[in-house]
Amino acid sequence: MWHPTGWTAKPAAQDIPYDDPKALDDVLTRLRQLPPLVTSYEIEALETEIAEAQEGKRFVIQGGDCAELVDECRPDYITSKLKILLQMSLVLVHGAKKPVIRIGRFAGQYAKPRSKPTETRGDETLPSYFGDLVNRIPFEPDARRPDPRRLLDGYHHAAMTLNFIRSLADGGFADLHHPEHWDLSFMEQASMSPELRAEYQATSQQLASALEFMEALGETSVEELSRVNFYTSHEGLNLHYESAQTRSVPRKEGYWDLTTHLPWIGERTRQLDGAHVEFFRGIRNPVGVKVGPTAEPDEVIRLLDVLNPDNRAGKIVLISRLGVNAAADVFPKLLRRVTEEGRRVLWISDPMHGNTRMAPSGVKTRYFDDIAAELETVMEVHRAEGTVFGGVHFELTGEDVTECVGGAAGPAEGGLRDGYSTGCDPRLNYGQALELAFRITRSL
Ligand code: PEP
Ligand code: CO
Repeated sequence: MWHPTGWTAKPAAQDIPYDDPKALDDVLTRLRQLPPLVTSYEIEALETEIAEAQEGKRFVIQGGDCAELVDECRPDYITSKLKILLQMSLVLVHGAKKPVIRIGRFAGQYAKPRSKPTETRGDETLPSYFGDLVNRIPFEPDARRPDPRRLLDGYHHAAMTLNFIRSLADGGFADLHHPEHWDLSFMEQASMSPELRAEYQATSQQLASALEFMEALGETSVEELSRVNFYTSHEGLNLHYESAQTRSVPRKEGYWDLTTHLPWIGERTRQLDGAHVEFFRGIRNPVGVKVGPTAEPDEVIRLLDVLNPDNRAGKIVLISRLGVNAAADVFPKLLRRVTEEGRRVLWISDPMHGNTRMAPSGVKTRYFDDIAAELETVMEVHRAEGTVFGGVHFELTGEDVTECVGGAAGPAEGGLRDGYSTGCDPRLNYGQALELAFRITRSL
């Protein structure tokens, strides 16, 4: 029998060395008592939408920070993230001619896997920063010590974020009929070229008039096309946090991870015999799985056997993150095998995580052209195979940062340090994100 804490008997990659088991226990007891952040009804709604996306009837955009920071739980940061996701989705609705499912990397994207468990500066070695759910960024012993109380702090900030997002969505923050009301000053950021701004304005106006026209015809699908809601997602890395909020609900079978709608398994924690796969195989949520360049087709099939033994529609989102060089080689093999085996999955492309590089100046960056090229390759492969390109996964922010190189108005390599503020990986800024949305719709 599966149980939410059964994973503790398995080897956990990226395990957090908490040094005070009593404090951890107290926190987990409290987390088990606190109300869930999302409901099983919402999760089921997302599952249904993902099942439709698998048939090519919807398109997913998943995006947000690499590492969400509790200090950035502020209305301005949250609204600008929503705005960029909305604007991208509006471009995609227009280009793909289908409803878009918006899934934020927010309200819980606080736990980060790291390539090394420790970081050394000079002659001092401290634990790496594992995200605000675990420790803090400053390179000081106290900040870097994994502190279980941060699990509660993360929960509270996720709740506040979600509360604000839900109120905005309910209050008509994003009426697609009136995109002209969407805070034009937001579009005056430096990363927006005048051409991009003009293209966006033309697209949004076309969309608004198309909606009006359909409404005049009494088209019922208008409501569907123009309704705006957001689902949440994060990497289900810290299994203490996830399992403490995993429970059964009245009149439904199974266990639900109620921290988020769509938790995903990261590239570093998808070992078949590991703790994460053990945990994820037992929850009723749809589940994302990152698939990197070293994944073998057999391995992916075995993962699907464990995570979705009944081959349910809407259950699995495979997020390929291969890198521009490996994509052309690896992606067709994975896609063909999964298709031949008749597995129901939604393939979405994360063109960020396979393309992280060190700039000559020593900062971690990604090149806009690599990101665009990986996307282009993945779309081409889907076209050639006659399969469904189901969506995209980006690390982005609505702020005018300079973390990725290139794009029409993006920074050159030398300009990276001007506005580099990510808690972990380099994110697309506002202009770069919108430019990519247009690239995708052109290719579609
Ligand atoms: C991430 O999405 O931030 C991440 C760490 O991705 P991956 O597991 O694909 O490396
Ligand atoms: Co990342």
